[in-house]
Amino acid sequence: MIYSLFILLLSSCLSAHVTALYLTWHADPTTTMTIHWHTLEHETTDTIYLQEPYGEWQALTGSHTPLHYLLVHTIHLQELHPDTEYLFRISEDPTIYRFRTAPDTLDKPLRFIIGGDADQTTKIFRKMNETIVKQDPLFCVIGGDIAYAVDAMPFQFSVTAFNRWLSFLSIWKEQMITPKGRVLPLILGIGNHDITKTTVDLFFTLFPFPEKRLYRTLDFSSYLTLFLLDTDHYSPIEGVQTDWLKTALSQRKHIPYRFAIYHEGAYPSYYPFHGIIPKKIRTFWCPLFDAYKISAAFENHNHTFKKTHPLTNGEIDPKGIIYFGDGCWGARPRKPNDLWYLAKKGRKNNVYLMELSEKKGLITALNLIGEPLDQTEISPLTEGELENAL
Ligand SMILES: [Fe+2]
Repeated sequence: MIYSLFILLLSSCLSAHVTALYLTWHADPTTTMTIHWHTLEHETTDTIYLQEPYGEWQALTGSHTPLHYLLVHTIHLQELHPDTEYLFRISEDPTIYRFRTAPDTLDKPLRFIIGGDADQTTKIFRKMNETIVKQDPLFCVIGGDIAYAVDAMPFQFSVTAFNRWLSFLSIWKEQMITPKGRVLPLILGIGNHDITKTTVDLFFTLFPFPEKRLYRTLDFSSYLTLFLLDTDHYSPIEGVQTDWLKTALSQRKHIPYRFAIYHEGAYPSYYPFHGIIPKKIRTFWCPLFDAYKISAAFENHNHTFKKTHPLTNGEIDPKGIIYFGDGCWGARPRKPNDLWYLAKKGRKNNVYLMELSEKKGLITALNLIGEPLDQTEISPLTEGELENAL
């Protein structure tokens, strides 16, 4: 009895105090996973324990980077099995978590969430998180303005970017986990409240991307690509990023589902249509979206609910691209303007539930309590259709 108590006491003393835990992907989500966790600075162990179904616990070691009084630990897992739920533990912490890799086909529907403008108002952010977890998505995408860490409201001037990020990550660890313990991976886009010249190092320490570049693709086997773009927050829209986008799109003509996700909008619902950034997106990116017939675009930043008419070359066209948005996960909703290009709009919090299968894709806007605001059916694009379009 005394011996058991001693072992229990010893294990609790040895347990890592994990203050943040977040998963993401930098490579194909069907076979990889990146795990980040924070501990206090003296807890230097980078080991996790991983167990695949019917397998033994396996010790794997990552690396860490100091950040103020914390360590940010990272491990990149590769050569995982698709559509498989893994168990993992952090260091000697006895808590068992789960993650699931993406399937390598769309035999059964893939469910995930796209939204933006998240932790502006924590009460709303928390409420929407509850709604999202109930949908049991495989993962979530936030298209910028994640924690409102920089350039926040005037009354928040005394709050540091570091503390805002920690607050966001603490809420994420607490809430974005299913009742069965599956942690929802987070895929980040970049917004104006996420990074400034003085917080670049902070951002890339919390989120150690393979390279210091925030526009990228995420390819799911051969059925889905997310184009995560940077609307001039860390990289200019025109020039290198646009050249890269053209090449990336031309290399993925055979992918049935291709979504562009970015922060500021080509077709804003609240901010001016003739703003510098919307104009640049329409000038440099929308012609590429049209030429390569992406499945849809997801815009943010405006804090409304919106869905545009299908658009090609700046005009309504039944075969055009719909721009969904408009960044109102956890921000205070604004009243959208009356604009010729908006098919649906509202002063409502919303995120999009994506359900992709081999035959069709469903894009459902959900409000704060999970009620549908709108549903759009899209078709996976075949290569033949694209050849006709080009
Ligand atoms: Fe924004």
